[in-house]
Amino acid sequence: MLLSRESKNSPVNSAGTFPFIRFDAVIHFAGLKAVGESVSKPLLYHDNNIVGTITLLEVMAAHGCKNLVFSSSATVYGWPKKVPCTEEFPLSAVNPYGRTKLFIEEICRDLRNSDSQWKIILLRYFNPVGAHPSGLIGEDPRGTPNNLMPFVQQVAVGRGQALTVFGKDYSTKDGTGVRDYIHVVDLADGHIAALKKLSDPKIGCDVYNLGTGKGTSVLEMVTAFEKASGKKIPLQIAGRRPGDAEVVYASIKKAETELKWKAKYGIEDMCKDQWNWASKNPFGYGSLESKK
Ligand code: UD1
Repeated sequence: MLLSRESKNSPVNSAGTFPFIRFDAVIHFAGLKAVGESVSKPLLYHDNNIVGTITLLEVMAAHGCKNLVFSSSATVYGWPKKVPCTEEFPLSAVNPYGRTKLFIEEICRDLRNSDSQWKIILLRYFNPVGAHPSGLIGEDPRGTPNNLMPFVQQVAVGRGQALTVFGKDYSTKDGTGVRDYIHVVDLADGHIAALKKLSDPKIGCDVYNLGTGKGTSVLEMVTAFEKASGKKIPLQIAGRRPGDAEVVYASIKKAETELKWKAKYGIEDMCKDQWNWASKNPFGYGSLESKK
């Protein structure tokens, strides 16, 4: 997303550039994000995510815009040895998707070290779920969803038979994996806070976690969704998913203190808004035919 202040008449000239627009900042959300696909198509991921980012950074520099907010991921903590994850934790990646996020973070740090005009904020998302409360905007994954809540949603609308729970033998409250789920609207607000923070002269290339600081298990999430939707989600207990960490949740102190941002919504709101979107759009943005 390009954020510009000035535009006069037609912004694009015959050379295909934008002579009248001054871009103040860019929020870079674009990227491929399916872990399994990244294992089978690593070059696609490295090309799209990393080369795409380098191209964007070059275009920004050519336009004299050196303010960036980038969507990174808690995946860069790998399998954290303890929780909550603070921004200073050692970084690692356990699959090509995770490596693209980690490499892009490193590229951004190198860029800032080379040129102090760059101001970059890397936002490490935990587990974004939910939908816009209007029910007009929501997640519509292609094919079988990899992530928990899109899968739960598909079972609730009758597009799946049962949720496979990956592992019930973790050392957690009910044996299932624990994550830090964050409402997409809170996540969006975190970006506004980050944009404002770019005007702080102390910003170089800085990192902030975007999470709630609370851990929720798979079964707790399913129960909350059942309550919000009035639908029963049949479960099939399976073995652990390779590569899954046991418990991951954020330390939110840094974002709270420095970005003056804090998540407002709990898992009940996330499930309510996700069900509102799902029940109004059981086939996402398409129709039954488009999903066959
Ligand atoms: C996953 C990715 C992570 C990526 C994030 C993007 C893996 C190993 N990690 O995170 O790199 O940044 O998505 O949003 O894929 N679960 C089930 N049944 C399912 C799906 C998930 O039980 O059908 C469980 C998982 O075992 C986990 C929890 O639900 O305990 C959350 O899983 P998921 O939504 O896939 O997120 P992450 O694994 O945290």
